[in-house]
Amino acid sequence: MSEQNFQTLGEFIIDKQEDFLYSTGELSRLLSAIRLASKMVNRQVNKAGIANIIGKVGSENIQGEEQQKLDVLANEIFIEALSQREVVCGIASEENDDYIEVKTGPNAHLSKYVVLIDPLDGSSNIDVNVSVGTIFSIYRRVTEPGTPVGIEDFLQKGVNQAAAGYVVYGSSTMIVYTTGNGVNGFTLDPSLGTYYLSHPAMKFPEIGKIYSINEGNYAKFPQGVKDYIKYCQEEENDRPYTSRYIGSLVSDFHRNMIKGGIYIYPSTSQSPNGKLRLLYECNPMALLAEQAGGKCTDGFRRILEIEPTELHQRVPFFCGTTEMVEKVEEFMQKYK
Ligand code: AHG
Ligand code: MN
Ligand code: MN
Ligand code: MN
Repeated sequence: MSEQNFQTLGEFIIDKQEDFLYSTGELSRLLSAIRLASKMVNRQVNKAGIANIIGKVGSENIQGEEQQKLDVLANEIFIEALSQREVVCGIASEENDDYIEVKTGPNAHLSKYVVLIDPLDGSSNIDVNVSVGTIFSIYRRVTEPGTPVGIEDFLQKGVNQAAAGYVVYGSSTMIVYTTGNGVNGFTLDPSLGTYYLSHPAMKFPEIGKIYSINEGNYAKFPQGVKDYIKYCQEEENDRPYTSRYIGSLVSDFHRNMIKGGIYIYPSTSQSPNGKLRLLYECNPMALLAEQAGGKCTDGFRRILEIEPTELHQRVPFFCGTTEMVEKVEEFMQKYK
């Protein structure tokens, strides 16, 4: 089949516009701006090795992480693209201390939407030419359009997301997103600069055999997680399972959704809330997981129902094939 038979992302967004709750075209425009920004980041990621954009900037972000040049570049590209198009009234990013109120033009503050973003996920992989990603989460603001955006617009439960998705800059570049009506994946044809619908109605397989966790931290894991890892490794029925860990949430999630698997970043004795950020990483992935028939919890509670209290809040994360997440929850329950 050639590209000509596939629907483009642009066509898909317009087609689906009427399904949206508020079909004013605003969410469509916002998704189009994300599509454009992702192509700009893709261009940079592709030439990272020759464009002097590999390596650290020399500064730390609010997460206490050393920022990579591409973290900063991707952050600027997304913020610029979204602000200039006046498609959002506010943006919060993993790389910024506080949220940004968008005031670029007369219409920006009238927008209904805010975006929360992890501009470059898995950025430690960039130096070694391994897949990285972008994760985005979109909410309708709760404050009145036309007034300054407030922290309450960002601190919403994941169930309130109007849309969420990710871009994976991998062996091919894909954008995968949901507006609450299933998950669809689009592959970029780099020669045309066009995304095509290549993975309609994505679903986790019912049975998964892959577990993804940084086992280097084993000694610091809760006992329930240690027991589950042992269970994955036992020779019984369809086990041992296969271990796969890229260290790039987007890529690990993407593989598990296609092949069937579980991704775990649990609490550790050093970091009781784990590492991943509720608003930029866990909530968008949780919406995608649920929309694809998977499950996502902190080991006990549904991620999407956690009430956020801070922008950069972290949370333990268990996400993937439903049956696998429920299995590890059984182990966690024993030590509650
Ligand atoms: P980011 O690059 O956006 O800071 O995210 C990194 C995250 C996630 O992508 C990945 O799965 C995880 O950190 C890896 O952490 P470890 O190196 O501790 O395993
Ligand atoms: Mn980071
Ligand atoms: Mn990340
Ligand atoms: Mn990041």
